[in-house]
Parts: sequence; structure tokens; C-alpha cells
Amino acid sequence: MTTVPATGTTGTTGTSSIPLLVLGSEADPASERGVSCPGELPPASDPGLVARAAAAKAALGDRLFVLGHHYQRDEVIQFADVTGDSFKLAREAAARPTAPFIVFCGVHFMAESADILTAGHQQVVLPDLAAGCSMADMATFDQVEEAWEVFEDAGVADDVIPVTYMNSSADIKAFVGRHGGTVCTSSNARRALDWALRKGSKVLFLPDQHLGRNTAVLEMGLALSDCVVYDPHRPGGGLTPDRLRAATMILWRGHCSVHGRFKKTSVDDVRARIPGVRVLVHPECTHEVVLAADDIGSTEYIIKTIDAAPAGTSWAVGTELNLVRRLANAHPDKNIVFLDKTVCFCSTMNRIDLPHLVWSLESLARGEVVNRIQVDEETAHYSRLALDQMLALP
Ligand code: 13P
Ligand code: SF4
Repeated sequence: MTTVPATGTTGTTGTSSIPLLVLGSEADPASERGVSCPGELPPASDPGLVARAAAAKAALGDRLFVLGHHYQRDEVIQFADVTGDSFKLAREAAARPTAPFIVFCGVHFMAESADILTAGHQQVVLPDLAAGCSMADMATFDQVEEAWEVFEDAGVADDVIPVTYMNSSADIKAFVGRHGGTVCTSSNARRALDWALRKGSKVLFLPDQHLGRNTAVLEMGLALSDCVVYDPHRPGGGLTPDRLRAATMILWRGHCSVHGRFKKTSVDDVRARIPGVRVLVHPECTHEVVLAADDIGSTEYIIKTIDAAPAGTSWAVGTELNLVRRLANAHPDKNIVFLDKTVCFCSTMNRIDLPHLVWSLESLARGEVVNRIQVDEETAHYSRLALDQMLALP
């Protein structure tokens, strides 16, 4: 089911195994990452970039809708018509059928979902095609098909409902749609798992083992021993048929390289440094970090919690640094610190910068659609089943 980019479009889905490409160099439409920008970018030092982006946006008017994920840079987020976590942005994209151009300031899998959920006449643009996601890259279509064969051999495939995190390629979402499963985000993982476990007796959770484990154990009361980790790089996933038969949650061995940097020692250190600090982390963090934290939630939840916190309180936040910095700047009456001592930007989210935004907006304003993200019809159809199921979760 390898998809071929339509003429003039790039960044569609694919199924091949992932070649090792240096970020931003060469072109690889079959990967979530590592595709170069085909355009003439304005220099980052151009002092007129903000004015140019504003002028291009004004010229496009209602024909343009700009979505911005919370992890985007300040210089980019200022141009977003709507900001949100991946769930909110998917809903916003689906709810705006009038704008012919949707510029997605986020990463590739989010832009794919926007393309799937929007009408045929709407074109979704990702300002830099190198804005992929290392977590999404950890589950390829071939690997997931192979895993399903392992489940068939173990006699459990009929019991398994696949649930994929939004952070996955359209191919994986389509696989899940074909097998009667659902997409979820960090805002609705619990509802998705409850739904799936009413439908079947086991869940295959892709590709983030931590979100799957944290939701199953901390929110749903499953035991750690109910969860097994399927490693796509080991024969049979590294699991015996008996272990597969005994498990309720089959967690894909994937993770977020940004949230994976927070360690239990980061929590211990900040508690020693700041008396009374509350530790607030994203559920993509490891189980031991989440266990040591006070509060866990999606990016939207993190923002709401900080907004509602009383003045004078101290918070150590374990998520992407652009968001934490923005929260700290927006709440000078609260002491908001980054959970880890070292810098922790998401390098692919940060690919979207002002030069790429200006280039894509100015291109659209003169009638040229660049960096279009277009998912082929069949993949879009089955992905939509899984995405619509998410939007309809009870
Ligand atoms: P949410 O926006 O769903 O909280 O996810 C965080 C993330 O890592 C997005 O890439
Ligand atoms: Fe992917 Fe993690 Fe970056 Fe989100 S923060 S885009 S999950 S690497």
C-alpha cells in the first residue's frame, strides 16, 4: 500500500522501513522525517519576517486557517488562528470546511490527520516537511502487519482491538480503522481504552508504550503484569504466545524522545530545590516519572491546570520547553520551572520557524500551494474510520 505523491505534492504516507536520513536533508516521502524544504527560504536574519508573515496572512484573509500546536515556537504561534493539543486541532480542522488553505504548524502526522478530516477542496500545508515525529517513526506499517500475524499465530488476533495514539502515520491509523479500532490522544486515552476493552478482551496500543501503560495502570486500575511490551525488532515481538494470551494490554515499544528525557531524579531534584513545588507531567513520560509526579495530563490539561493555579504556587512542568516557557511568561505571579535542568525542545516541532512560515504563506498568497500534505484516498478512508471513532468516543 505504498503511496505515491501526487504531482506537486509531497509528504504523503508510506510503508517502507525507515532509512537513516539526516534531518532536513534529502527527500523521503515514505518517512515521517527527513525530507528537505524544496523552496527558497527567506533568511532567518531578515528583520521584516514578522511583517511579511502578517501581510501574507492578511492578503489570504478567510481563505487561510492556521493551526498551531502548543509545542510550536512563540514566533510561529503568534500567527495561529487556533492553538491546541493534537485532539483539539483535529477537531478544529474538521470544523472549518470553508477555508481552502490550512497551514498546520505542528508535525507531519497532525497535518495528515487534518487532511483526512477536511473536505476534498481544502489543502493542508506543512511549512517544513522535515517536521516529523520520532515516536511516529517507531511503528511502521510493515511492522504492524507483522505483529498482527504474530497475534494470529498465537490465536489472539480476534480478541485484539488496536488503538493508536494520534502520533502515528496515516498508514497506521488506516490499519487500525481496518481492524475496527480507534485513534486516541493524550486527552482521551482512557475513554478510548475503556471503549476498546468493551469491544474486545485485549488492546494493541501503538506506538507510545508510556501513554498506554500510564493510562491502563494509573487511570483504569490494571496491574503492570496485565501489560506486555511488543518489540518490533525482535522475533515474535520478544513475547511467547502464552504471554500474549495472558496480557490485556499489548504495548508497542515506542516512546517520545522528548518526554523520555525526564527521569525520576529530575523529580527528586526539583522537589529538593523548590519546597512545596507541584510536579505536573505529560503522560508520554515514563511510568516511574508519572508515579513520582503530582499531576498528569495532556498539553491542554497542563495549560488549564496552570491557569487555574493560585498566585504564589510553584510548578515544575514535564513537557516540551516552548510550552513551559510560554506558561512561565504568561504567569509571572507563579513560579513555573522546567522539570529537567537541560534543554528539551522537540527538534522536529521546532523545524517550523518564521522563514518556513513566511515562505509557505507568501507562496499561498501568490497562488502556489507548497508542501501540501495529501493522504491517498484508500488510506484516508480507513484512517477516517479510526479518527471518526475517536471523535465519537462516549
Ligand atoms: P498532545 O498534544 O496530545 O498533548 O501531545 C503531545 C505531543 O507530544 C504532540 O506531539
Ligand atoms: Fe513526537 Fe515527542 Fe516531538 Fe511530540 S514531542 S512530536 S511525540 S517527538
